[in-house]
Amino acid sequence: MKPTLKPLSIMLPLLALSMSSAVMAEGISLPNVSPANSDLVNKGAYVARAADCMACHGEDYKGGSPIATPMGDIYATNITPSKRFGIGKYTKQDLKRALTEGRAPTHRLYPAMPYPDYHGMTDADIDALFAYLQTVEPIDEPLEYKTKLPFPFNFRSLMIGWNLVNLTKTEPPKNLTEGQKRGQYLVDHLEHCGTCHTPRNSTMGADNNKYLAGAPLGSWFAPNITPDKDSGIGSWSEKDIITFLRTGELEGRAYAGGPMGEAVAHSTRYLTDTDLSAIAAYLKAVPAIQTDDKVHHVDSSRFLKPLNTSITHDLIAQKDVLQRAKDSAGDRNSPKALYLAACGSCHGVNGYAQPDAKYAPIVGLTSIRRERPDMLVNVIAHGVEGASNTSPSMPAFAKELNPEQIAKITNYVRVNFGGVDDSNVSAVDVERIMTAKPEQPFLIKYAGILASLGIIAVILIVGFIIWRLMRPRRAR
Ligand code: HEC
Ligand code: HEC
Ligand code: HEC
Repeated sequence: MKPTLKPLSIMLPLLALSMSSAVMAEGISLPNVSPANSDLVNKGAYVARAADCMACHGEDYKGGSPIATPMGDIYATNITPSKRFGIGKYTKQDLKRALTEGRAPTHRLYPAMPYPDYHGMTDADIDALFAYLQTVEPIDEPLEYKTKLPFPFNFRSLMIGWNLVNLTKTEPPKNLTEGQKRGQYLVDHLEHCGTCHTPRNSTMGADNNKYLAGAPLGSWFAPNITPDKDSGIGSWSEKDIITFLRTGELEGRAYAGGPMGEAVAHSTRYLTDTDLSAIAAYLKAVPAIQTDDKVHHVDSSRFLKPLNTSITHDLIAQKDVLQRAKDSAGDRNSPKALYLAACGSCHGVNGYAQPDAKYAPIVGLTSIRRERPDMLVNVIAHGVEGASNTSPSMPAFAKELNPEQIAKITNYVRVNFGGVDDSNVSAVDVERIMTAKPEQPFLIKYAGILASLGIIAVILIVGFIIWRLMRPRRAR
């Protein structure tokens, strides 16, 4: 079966809410720490975590997951030490070139492999990573699917031109403290937060004028994480940022769903306290950028109150509460009745979910308080996939509910659980959001035509030269 497609790494497990903050705060031991237990190899295991190689290559590094790009699917390859199918024949220098320049020994890599970010990785980290990757279990299996991009992108040497434009180092802000410098290294080069949170320019490179200011990601949106007070995370304390990256949630404020859930599950939750503090300190120091997708400030008095906790923790009692709420909701097509019918069984009558069933509480989340309802509409339409084997997932409602019903639920959720004054999302808005194709930058959209024109031009020029040469000289 073809692996299901996930936009830019919506791939593996999501954080179960069950991971209690207490356990996390004590730090967890690294899985995959090599049996060849040396300092260098253990350091390499940490670098692999911090650089989140597993998000794409898998926890066993065998590859195979597709990464959706506007040009087509690009499959992550096998990077186990298998000599035949993996990178068993790589030298340290080969690994360095692959990571920092996008050059495998035999071909150019597509930037779906985040080498533009790994470009700044230190030699010491690459050495450690190399030592570690040699100790993981070799998997001698070919990939089931190979990357086949359409003309002209099937010419991998095109990437040489792309690299000239996009493989540039950005200047970090001046006057950073030592901690913030470490944070900058982690954010920009290992964790590659910008791959998701920085929008793309016309050639699919990072648009550094909008560094970390938020970007669409398939049907998700990676929000603005600059310190802007209205549209970014300016109101978060450093401690809030640390808690979010460690546990995947910030009570009543944010929940790491989809691709962010994966970044937390595979990577950020394993970072040391010092490294998480460094990231938080650096995120406070980057330029604040205001975007039009503001987060409404919470008027928490508008939130529905949590049910009595004895009921919240009693599933049977909660079922009765839900049934009673449904009975009294009136018209089946009213926003409240629609919410209770479609969402109530998991998120609860009041949005605080069922703690024992570990579904996500949604009260106060920034994702439902944004100026643009797009993320919420997409979550309802497409669901939230990929619960790990222990965490539940959310079904898609695009088929079950019509745009009008989705619009009503969206408004109900934003006002009652988001504390938004007023929400007027219409069926037309929902249709527009659900049918929107990820915006293809101009050059990508027209690259086929541009390249064909280029080829026609070359043929004409060569033809013209031949014609000039062959033309019988005019007798003088
Ligand atoms: C966002 C997804 C993503 C992440 C994260 C990622 N890779 Fe990759 N990687 C890819 C893809 C996709 C390819 C194949 C690219 C292609 O076909 O041009 C690839 C290719 C490679 C290759 C080339 C293998 C070959 O075919 O010769 C190496 C080596 C590699 N990755 C190592 C790593 C390491 C080490 C890390 C972590 C530091 C990492 N990757 C993180 C997506 C990723
Ligand atoms: C694979 C893509 C991806 C990567 C990598 C990633 N993020 Fe995210 N991030 C997202 C998405 C998508 C969301 C929205 C999640 C949601 O609302 O459920 C998000 C949400 C967040 C939020 C919550 C913001 C809010 O207003 O609710 C913070 C903070 C954040 N990310 C910080 C980071 C940092 C720091 C890094 C690097 C260490 C990072 N992210 C790496 C995709 C990503
Ligand atoms: C079968 C249970 C289930 C149902 C029914 C359900 N959800 Fe969810 N929902 C979940 C789970 C589980 C998550 C957290 C997924 C994860 O791990 O990221 C979630 C996450 C969410 C989020 C948070 C998204 C984010 O990451 O910021 C919102 C908002 C949401 N659901 C709204 C709804 C609405 C509205 C409905 C009804 C149309 C609904 N859900 C129906 C289980 C459910």
